[in-house]
Amino acid sequence: MTPSLGRTSVALLCVLWTLLMYNEQVPTTFAKFQTIQHPPKADGSLSLLVLGDWGRRGAYNQSQVAFQMGKIGKKLDVDFVISTGDNFYENGLKGVNDTGFSESFASIYTAPSLQKQWYSVLGNHDYRGNAEAQLDPILRKIDSRWLCMRSFVVDSEIAEFFFVDTSPFVDMYFQPKAEHHYDWRGVLPRQNYISNVLKDLKQALSESTAEWKIVVGHHAIRSIGFHGNTSELIKQLLPILNENNVDLYMNGHDHCLEHISSSKAKGSIQFLTTGAGSKAWRGNLREHEEGVKFYYDGQGFLSAELNHSEARIAYYDVFGQILHEFTLSKMLRSTI
Ligand SMILES: *[C@@H]1O[C@H](CO)[C@@H](O)[C@H](O)[C@H]1NC(C)=O
Ligand SMILES: *[C@@H]1O[C@H](CO)[C@@H](O)[C@H](O)[C@H]1NC(C)=O
Ligand SMILES: *[C@@H]1O[C@H](CO)[C@@H](O)[C@H](O)[C@H]1NC(C)=O
Ligand SMILES: *[C@@H]1O[C@H](CO)[C@@H](O)[C@H](O)[C@H]1NC(C)=O
Repeated sequence: MTPSLGRTSVALLCVLWTLLMYNEQVPTTFAKFQTIQHPPKADGSLSLLVLGDWGRRGAYNQSQVAFQMGKIGKKLDVDFVISTGDNFYENGLKGVNDTGFSESFASIYTAPSLQKQWYSVLGNHDYRGNAEAQLDPILRKIDSRWLCMRSFVVDSEIAEFFFVDTSPFVDMYFQPKAEHHYDWRGVLPRQNYISNVLKDLKQALSESTAEWKIVVGHHAIRSIGFHGNTSELIKQLLPILNENNVDLYMNGHDHCLEHISSSKAKGSIQFLTTGAGSKAWRGNLREHEEGVKFYYDGQGFLSAELNHSEARIAYYDVFGQILHEFTLSKMLRSTI
């Protein structure tokens, strides 16, 4: 390298460094959720499966759920699969070479209909291991279906999916005497991280022209299961979803299947819990709450079929039986 080129490089590096520093101080100016385009079917419709809380090397009915997902996935010709997090138990992945990745994912969801793109968020158990390993593109070389990011958008024209990294919102995980160790690399300082996520989500939602706005996170906003409501999300996330006419919020965390419908006065969000990919039957059922349409303590998953006028949601158990289904209509914006 000639001295003059060297000087140019140094100057360029200085400019880049300054830009990066500026970015650090004013992150919201530059930060934006990464958007992935995932076109719908030729007729504009879209179908997908959603599950959460699954990676247990096939145990606790994980393999049975996977088998039924394969059957339903074929029937509906699903375009992709969404994972609501807690992808690998008990403590996420140790690294990109952790055998848990193939033993709990690649060699479990083997049906031809499930050889589609999977979009995943991180759950609190994923943060207990090497969280960055799950985000590493190397995993996509091992199994091209895998795509896990912290917060991002999948744009499918008629529907837009807004994936939100919810673990950093939960105060309990940050207490000095927290029960577990979490890998918060890339998350600290926490308040910065949270306010950026909220700001970017707000912007992405307000710019969306999709018929269906669907937000996905690991933690429930509303749930009557073991963990119940996440008060941090009711306070910080829910108002943004209400303001932007979000249709569905889908989550895991509670190992059950649920459908809770918010009353019209508070917006018309449907809260769908699908955290029943493996271990379930915890035996929890809180007292009945307003808006609860369905609660199932056992294993299963859900499907969503969307077109311009309708969204049809169905919940399945380990036998592939439909436990609950409902249809939303765009014209009426109401549950039929
Ligand atoms: C597997 O599913 C069946 C049927 O729901 C249930 O009876 C059984 O307890 C489940 N097994 C486990 C380990 O959860
Ligand atoms: C993972 O395994 C590959 C192939 O054996 C090796 O080249 C790589 O260094 C390993 N990575 C880590 C982070 O251990
Ligand atoms: C959960 O949140 C909903 C809506 O804010 C509220 O009606 C319900 O009482 C809450 N449940 C619990 C157990 O706090
Ligand atoms: C989609 O659209 C048609 C009407 O154009 C309707 O009959 C059909 O059942 C719709 N719903 C789904 C979920 O495909």
